[in-house]
Amino acid sequence: MVLPIQIDPHGAVPIYLQIVQQVREKIVSGELPEGTLLPPERTLARYLGVNRSTVVHAYRELKRNALVEARVGHGTTVLAPAVAAFEPNGDGPLPWRLLFRQSVRQGSDPLVRDLLEMAGRQDVIPLSVGLPSPELLPLEAMERVGEAVRGRLGPMSLLQCPTEGVPEFREELARWMGQQGIAASADEVLVLSGSQQGLDLAARVFIDPQDIVVMDEPTYFGALEAFRGARARIIAVPSDEEGMVTEVLASVLQRHRPKLIYTLPTYKNPAGNVMSLARRRHLLELAARYQVPILEDDPYSPLRYDGDSIPSLKAMDRDGVVIYLSTFSKILFPGLRLGWLVAPPSVVRQFALVKQGVDLHSDTPGQWLMTEFLREGLLTRHLAEVRRHYARRRDLMHRALQGTAPEGVHWQRPQGGFYVWCRLPPQVERSRLVAAAAEAGVSFLPGWSCYVEDPDDSFIRLNFSFPPEDRIETGVARLMEAVARSSAGFRSMAGRGTGTRPIV
Ligand SMILES: Cc1ncc(COP(=O)(O)O)c(C=O)c1O
Repeated sequence: MVLPIQIDPHGAVPIYLQIVQQVREKIVSGELPEGTLLPPERTLARYLGVNRSTVVHAYRELKRNALVEARVGHGTTVLAPAVAAFEPNGDGPLPWRLLFRQSVRQGSDPLVRDLLEMAGRQDVIPLSVGLPSPELLPLEAMERVGEAVRGRLGPMSLLQCPTEGVPEFREELARWMGQQGIAASADEVLVLSGSQQGLDLAARVFIDPQDIVVMDEPTYFGALEAFRGARARIIAVPSDEEGMVTEVLASVLQRHRPKLIYTLPTYKNPAGNVMSLARRRHLLELAARYQVPILEDDPYSPLRYDGDSIPSLKAMDRDGVVIYLSTFSKILFPGLRLGWLVAPPSVVRQFALVKQGVDLHSDTPGQWLMTEFLREGLLTRHLAEVRRHYARRRDLMHRALQGTAPEGVHWQRPQGGFYVWCRLPPQVERSRLVAAAAEAGVSFLPGWSCYVEDPDDSFIRLNFSFPPEDRIETGVARLMEAVARSSAGFRSMAGRGTGTRPIV
């Protein structure tokens, strides 16, 4: 569709605002009813003769005003106008959407939900998700451990437990942390229903609207979502191959007083890189000097395939500034929904009080299961096994990229974790790539979802842990073919690129 709007390039009102105002009027007047698909940014920019970034800015503003939503795979669609514009008339259906909290209407990104849905589709080679391989899950060991737990505890394994977690499980987690170089006692451990809950709780515990959170980008989109939902002001610090550029952080800390620094320094999601030891030291020193806690998100560090092992920030933390977060979702079963946090006991207590309001406690059978699994040393054994497989998959993906990537595509072979972060050449048209990949039956994560403010859409994230080993080469070949076909100048795709449901 073409949006019938007029732009005055010489007017006093900035062009992006002219777009916002006219689209808003059309939404409020009903000319653009709820569910209308707005044209892709590039198409509208071309039609209006403006820069694409102007349209990106306008769409972002419309999204901020809860007038449109951008759903991965669906494009930008019109929402019902805000509650103030709503006149109850008694006969229509309840306007649910208008009743949701403003931050929910504005901030909830369906990306994670869409990705999980994608993982279940048979017709697509999924390079988009961040999950462990289903074929490598230790089902028999779990079965055996489960039986032992049921035999020993009977119904007790199905009853409630303290909000902080099953005490025996906290003990085992503290021991596991010790094996990872982190000295922690059980009362410094809080059991979580996945580490995403830790991010949500951190936002609830620390953030009042407009409080500042610093993150190095690109970053984990689930963290962006959690802190945006709490209406934090997020300040981005860049990162390079050595991780967060701490010199920039230093200048941010001189000018602002953030409540938290969020980072995932080891085998980062999405970029796969590792923060250097020197930068880790500098980050800890800055956090201590400016008294800002660091929230270290560390789901991937046990998945090291080569390269040196680098201690976590928490392991290096002499000043007690790090809150450490991890999970079994990447190294074992994501369906268990079990993660944990390590922090000083007073912080654990506060988190537990807030957790009570959203989740009385985490799943007890899972906690007992994992207690036994850890006690028997089965996690260590399982990790040794999956590391071999994932290293091979990583190499398969790397070689497949070497064999098929068009000129101008760049990536690093990661030393651990789940992801290869690819930079695409500028001539690749993103909307065409999304459509071409969908057509080819392969999915990827677009890099723009991992940025705070100005999305860099020259990157895509590819996952090598989840797709079956024998599908990785085909998946990469399909995607690189789609990349080639989406480059400006590739004629046989001309005129396509809209209308197909994008797959991410
Ligand atoms: C960096 C990071 N943190 C947190 C999570 C959430 O994991 P969980 O399944 O434990 O909630 C993920 C999952 O993708 C992740 O990559």
